[in-house]
Amino acid sequence: MSSTTRPLSPSSLLAQSAFDLRRARFSDLAAAARMCSRAFDDDVLFGRLIHPYRKSYPGDVDKYWYRRFVVDWWDPSHIFLVTTVPSAEYEDNGEEIVTGFAHWSRIAPSWRDNYKAGWGWAWWDPRRLLRPISRLFVRLLAWLSPNRAASRKDEFIVERSYNYLDHIWTGQRSECWYLECLAVHPDYQKQGQGRALVMMGLWQAQREGVACSVIAADGKEKFYQACGFDVGPVGRSGEGEGNPLKEVPGGLVFFKDKEGLVLPDRQFGSWMDGHGVFDWDEWKKGVETKSTDNQEPE
Ligand SMILES: CC(C)(COP(=O)(O)OP(=O)(O)OC[C@H]1O[C@@H](n2cnc3c(N)ncnc32)[C@H](O)[C@@H]1OP(=O)(O)O)[C@@H](O)C(=O)NCCC(=O)NCCS
Repeated sequence: MSSTTRPLSPSSLLAQSAFDLRRARFSDLAAAARMCSRAFDDDVLFGRLIHPYRKSYPGDVDKYWYRRFVVDWWDPSHIFLVTTVPSAEYEDNGEEIVTGFAHWSRIAPSWRDNYKAGWGWAWWDPRRLLRPISRLFVRLLAWLSPNRAASRKDEFIVERSYNYLDHIWTGQRSECWYLECLAVHPDYQKQGQGRALVMMGLWQAQREGVACSVIAADGKEKFYQACGFDVGPVGRSGEGEGNPLKEVPGGLVFFKDKEGLVLPDRQFGSWMDGHGVFDWDEWKKGVETKSTDNQEPE
C-alpha cells in the first residue's frame, strides 16, 4: 500500500490559501452543524442510515450535529476548528462563511493525563460541571424538539458501537489526538480545506509526541492516507461480536503513530469483514511484502 506523507507545516499550508483557518467560536457551531448536514447528506452512515427522513426534515439533521458539538464544547480536551471564506459583504461587515469544520479530541487513559498535558481542568475546577449540565440540557431539548429526520432505531448507533473499539487506543496509542468529525461544504471541496483541517491535528500530535488517529468514512481512506495517516487500517468501526455497525461499509481506523514507533501490522481476520470500497487485496499484498522484507536473512 503506498501513501504520500507530506511535511507538517501549518504556516506553509495556509500561506497561499484563499480561506482562513481558526479555532471555532461558540457562535460558529450552528453554521458548522448546517454545513455538516450538507456534507454528510449522502454519507452511508450519517446520511442514509441515521437520517432516512432527511429530505422531509432537512433542518432537523442540524440538530444532530449541533447537539453533539454543544456537549463536547465544554470539555477542554475537545478542539473545534473552522475554515472560512469572506462573504460578499465582508468589506462592509467583516462577515465570513463557515466552509469547513473539524472536531478533534484528545484521547487519554484518564482525564488526569489530559490535565497534565494541558488539555483538562483540575478536579476542583467548577467548569467541570459545564459538560454534564449541557448534556442534561441537550437531552431535555431532544425530548422537547426531537430530530424528526433520524431513524428511531439508529439515531444513536454510533454511540452504541463505542465500546467495541477500546482495544485499539491502548499501549503506545493510548494518548492520542482523534479526529471526531471533518466536513467541508460541497461547494468548497477540493480546495485544500479538508487537508488543512487535518494537518492542524497531525501537527499538534507531533508537537506533543503522541499518536493521531481517524475513523475514515467509506471512500475517504485515500484522502486520509494522503494527508499523512500512514499506518493502517488497524481496525474497523463495525468489528467485534454484536457491534451494531457491523454491516455499515467503511469505518477503517488509521493512525499516524508517534515519531519513531513501528508497530507490526494487524493480522488478517474477521475484523476486516464488511462491505465498502477499500481494497483489502492491495492492503494484504503490502502487509505481506513488508513482513517478508523484515525477515532476518537465513
Ligand atoms: C473528505 C473531505 C473533508 C475532503 O475535503 P476537501 O476540502 O475536499 O479535501 P482537500 O481539497 O483538502 O483534498 C486534499 C487531497 O485529498 C484528495 N481527496 C479529497 N477527497 C478525496 C477522496 N474522497 N478520495 C481520495 N482523495 C481525495 C484531494 O484530491 C487532494 O489531493 P491533492 O492535494 O493531491 O490535490 C470532504 O470531501 C467532505 O467533507 N466529505 C463529506 C464528509 C466526509 O465524508 N467527511 C469525512 C468523514 S471521515
